[in-house]
Amino acid sequence: MKIKVVKDYDEMSLLAAKQIIEQIKIKNNSVLGLATGSTPIGMYKNLIEYFKRGEVDFSKVITFNLDEYIGLDKGNEQSYIYFMKKNLFSHINIKEENIFIPDGTAKDAEIECKRYNELLEKYGPIDIQILGIGVNGHIGFNEPSKSLTLRTHVTDLTEDTRKANARFFDDISKVPTKAITMGIGDIMKAEKIILLASGKSKAPIIKHMVETGISTFIPASVLKLHKNVEIIADEDAASLIEKDSCIA
Ligand code: PGA
Repeated sequence: MKIKVVKDYDEMSLLAAKQIIEQIKIKNNSVLGLATGSTPIGMYKNLIEYFKRGEVDFSKVITFNLDEYIGLDKGNEQSYIYFMKKNLFSHINIKEENIFIPDGTAKDAEIECKRYNELLEKYGPIDIQILGIGVNGHIGFNEPSKSLTLRTHVTDLTEDTRKANARFFDDISKVPTKAITMGIGDIMKAEKIILLASGKSKAPIIKHMVETGISTFIPASVLKLHKNVEIIADEDAASLIEKDSCIA
């Protein structure tokens, strides 16, 4: 696992965007695994800028999002499909049919998971998977637990996650209690994984993930078993890591 420490959020965002642009230059029909949350917004802004300057063509790019809340429809401003349209898709030339996000309003969420897994099989493997990290170590909505699930599944959100995400809702009671998320196995199948972390609030979990062993109670620590993972952390997020753990 490689750790690249950069100065701040802007540098993290630009570096991640550059890697995606390089990937699309090598393979115009790249499959990207995308994340929501505050962390990747700057990266998406950079991708939009590259597109506006005519430096990248998304017309053949395929995207898979990690997760979606159950119960929020696509018109709900807190749904992840809404987030992705607002922060990326509506500003670039990606084709609607090449965008995949679990449907949180599907009548039968289990059937929706099966459908998503089949799509991942059909279009995968993902070339670059972008991840954020929760303060509790979750990736996607794979929450700390006695066991982790390999494939796309329905999950209960932990109180930590609901509290962390309550900032986007009127109050915590409005934060959904369930979500559909790609599983750890789906994430680990990606050719390359880039985990982004910014800010002091992420420093304890980044230290924990990097410096302690692999545990299902820190889902991101499982990434240590992947052959091609890069953490891009800004100085604040990396501030608690021991210097000699920078290459693990
Ligand atoms: P954040 O969320 O980018 O809003 O910090 C990350 C996550 O929960 O995975």
